[in-house]
Amino acid sequence: MEACDHVFYRNLRKVYPVADRAEGVYIWDTRGKRYLDGSGGACVVSIGHGVPAILEAMQIQFKRVPFVHSSHFTNPAACELGNLLHAMAPDESLSRTYFLSGGSEAVESAVKLVRQYWREAGRPDKYKVISRWSSFHGNTTGALALGGHTARRRHYQPILQHTPHIEPAYCYRCSFKEVPETCDLQCADELERCIKHEDPESVAAFIAEPVVGATAGAVVPKDGYWQRIRQICDTYEIKLIADEVMTGIGRCGRNFGIENWGVVPDLIVMAKGLSSGYTPLGAVMVKDEIHSTIKNGSGVFVHGHTYGQNPLSTATGAAVLRYIQEHGLVERSRQMGIYLMEKLAMLAKRDCVGEIRGLGLFAGIELIRDKASRAWFDRDLHVSTRVANQAFERGLVTYPGSGGVDGIHGDHILLAPPFTITERQIDEMVAILADALEAVAKTL
Ligand SMILES: Cc1ncc(COP(=O)(O)O)c(C=O)c1O
Repeated sequence: MEACDHVFYRNLRKVYPVADRAEGVYIWDTRGKRYLDGSGGACVVSIGHGVPAILEAMQIQFKRVPFVHSSHFTNPAACELGNLLHAMAPDESLSRTYFLSGGSEAVESAVKLVRQYWREAGRPDKYKVISRWSSFHGNTTGALALGGHTARRRHYQPILQHTPHIEPAYCYRCSFKEVPETCDLQCADELERCIKHEDPESVAAFIAEPVVGATAGAVVPKDGYWQRIRQICDTYEIKLIADEVMTGIGRCGRNFGIENWGVVPDLIVMAKGLSSGYTPLGAVMVKDEIHSTIKNGSGVFVHGHTYGQNPLSTATGAAVLRYIQEHGLVERSRQMGIYLMEKLAMLAKRDCVGEIRGLGLFAGIELIRDKASRAWFDRDLHVSTRVANQAFERGLVTYPGSGGVDGIHGDHILLAPPFTITERQIDEMVAILADALEAVAKTL
């Protein structure tokens, strides 16, 4: 490989292996080492690497027209992807989709869309967006401000807009000292309290991940949480934005994660699995009412990005969704998720494993110092990174994270393999993870 002295890397001190090729759930580096992609990168690769049908669809689009600007043309690929998403939506009222290049762009677009909607609906005082601590909505400054991960936010605090945050729905570490068996969902009622304090007439929307991903490791709320949130949003006329960048497009065993609770949001933000990583792609799907209010009002969404709705990415997304449908991969994510949970349960008795949780092929393992008190590891020990490094050395890619407890402390490992993973490959994944945990436990 050519000398690589002019790339600005994410971790400036790390020496990265060179990715050479990938197929199915495996990636090979240029030295010939094979890695099982246990996290689909960062919860991106849903249908597996190197699927010929996707490459073919991309080639066809590439030859026809790879790029036109969305201010000049529409294109058949975008129309097809819009139709496919409408057919997958939790409700047919979610009828329009705005295409972008990734999750952060999609979050920012959703927020601007809601704000413009309220202005055009004659409620110009509605502008605040409430979100939750221990959440992640992206790294652009608007999205980062909504996120609740202190370690990611703290460098940029002075340039982040101050927005209201409420406590997460995190049963293992309940902010209200409740236990799931008897709790009455104070974490959901927090939203109502916050709206009242902020003044309902100033609140435009509430945004949250149906199952929290990057910042806390597949935290699944108690049943009833999302239904209560929906009720509160309806009572105070607040739009509900489901950030399904990780949980959407089958990851949690349903088309969209929030469908696990039968709730219909007003906007759905998606990315990652939408293109399975074959191209950068994000989207915001909105209810008819939002679209028609703007259409019948100013007629123009005052927004746009150069690569929004581009033919190559939308053709890729359409091919991915067709592939998911043809191969029943959403159902497969649900079924293989059950198998993954059964296998991961074998790790539960380890001293450093606090909780194993998840939905579909979206699993989190919270790592702790003490089982009885649920005390977390010292942040300087970087336990999750060390476990992930050990796994990587042994040929397993995972997505480690920290800060779930309070934005700074807490360690977890996130697993989100492609939906095409087999039982044998899940066994391989769990065996490597067990070895990695063992290796790190010896050094603590
Ligand atoms: C829930 C959620 N929202 C938004 C984003 C931002 O997406 P992107 O990295 O594509 O900008 C992420 C990324 O991990 C995410 O997990």
